[in-house]
Amino acid sequence: MRIYDIILKKRNGGTLTKEEIACFIDGYVNGSVPDYQAAALCMAIFFRGMTDAETAALTDCMARSGDMIDLSRFGGLTVDKHSTGGVGDKTTLIVAPIVAALGGKVAKMSGRGLGHTGGTVDKLESIPGMRVTMEREAFLRQVEAIGIAVIGQSGNLTPADKKLYALRDVTATVDSIPLITSSVMSKKIAAGSKNIVLDVKAGSGAFMKTPDDARLLARNMVAIGKACGRNITALITDMSRPLGTAVGNAIEVIEAAEVLRGASKGDLYDVCAALATEMTMLFAGVPRAVAEKQVADAIESGAAFEKMKEWVCAQGGDTAWLESAKYGDGAAFAVPVLSPSDGFITSMNAEAIGAAAVILGAGRSKKEDAIDHSAGIIVKEKTGGAVKKGQVLACLYTNNAASAQQAKQRYLDALTIGPQAPEKTELIFDIIR
Ligand code: URA
Repeated sequence: MRIYDIILKKRNGGTLTKEEIACFIDGYVNGSVPDYQAAALCMAIFFRGMTDAETAALTDCMARSGDMIDLSRFGGLTVDKHSTGGVGDKTTLIVAPIVAALGGKVAKMSGRGLGHTGGTVDKLESIPGMRVTMEREAFLRQVEAIGIAVIGQSGNLTPADKKLYALRDVTATVDSIPLITSSVMSKKIAAGSKNIVLDVKAGSGAFMKTPDDARLLARNMVAIGKACGRNITALITDMSRPLGTAVGNAIEVIEAAEVLRGASKGDLYDVCAALATEMTMLFAGVPRAVAEKQVADAIESGAAFEKMKEWVCAQGGDTAWLESAKYGDGAAFAVPVLSPSDGFITSMNAEAIGAAAVILGAGRSKKEDAIDHSAGIIVKEKTGGAVKKGQVLACLYTNNAASAQQAKQRYLDALTIGPQAPEKTELIFDIIR
């Protein structure tokens, strides 16, 4: 079988067999298929799409390209979540301790930020001392003992996705439904949890720009999860503006801690409560109303925040920092963005706001770039907000004075201010079971 013929077949709109897909994945992982041929095939898939059977075969080959984690010792209590990526999306930091406080077993491997979207592992590393790597047995022992461990993607988990995702990121082939489906679901299947909740983002800060595209992606992922014997639900949630107020790393951890302390309500709280409710329904097998109450009680009682501290402590992190850190700590410059006019914010380009945070140092432009954990943006007014000329719309934190001016312009360009308030939109568009 020649990889050239596989590329040609897909380029011409053909349907690949399981064997052809396996030949591509095996060859790409072992190095016999070079990046340029893999990139050509990804682009052919981007334009030609894949049938359900092709997507399922691709997911299966990618999941089996490395280790498969066995979580059977935890029975049906294992629960995972995955977001397709957004701006200000710190939901894992909030929902993981909530469901662990309720008896779920969260054995989670998370990613780093790339492009305009943030990553949980980078956020966790802003907690002084926090370790995000662990040997497999230590990881499982921690889940056994306290119900939660979150680390970076381990050495040999879905190496096919690791290579392909990095390649797609630089070849404009990320936003393809079969490629996102296989990337997300291969990781979830290899990571071993019985119960999975997907947060499929839709809007300007997401890979899927409309709820309809997000629904299509969600249906694909749910079908594959079910075919692999998992209990799986997908929420389609709004990413037409940053989620919550913080966009960065340390500041997102601080905001997450505030939500867990019950000190912050709003869109972030609502999305997290919805995700944690779905996770609890799956792992505990309880009806929605019961799960909703358990989730609210876990926050109100302080149990969820205690669980976060237990988790941080178990991974070497400084819990005193978690209790006392403030927005802007460690950043030499705090630069306000002022409204240029009176009116209402009618739209926000969340992707551009994510890019502004990257300019400040909160993300990477290239994989090898270092992150400034203290850099980021506190969004003070969001879509629908009434603003006055000169009012502070956001505060930019950075250690690089020159980047602040560039980020400030980028932030202002990301907003539209008009004379009339826009219509209110949904936060949760749909739930796919
Ligand atoms: N998140 C992933 O893990 N993979 C994708 O392809 C897109 C978002």
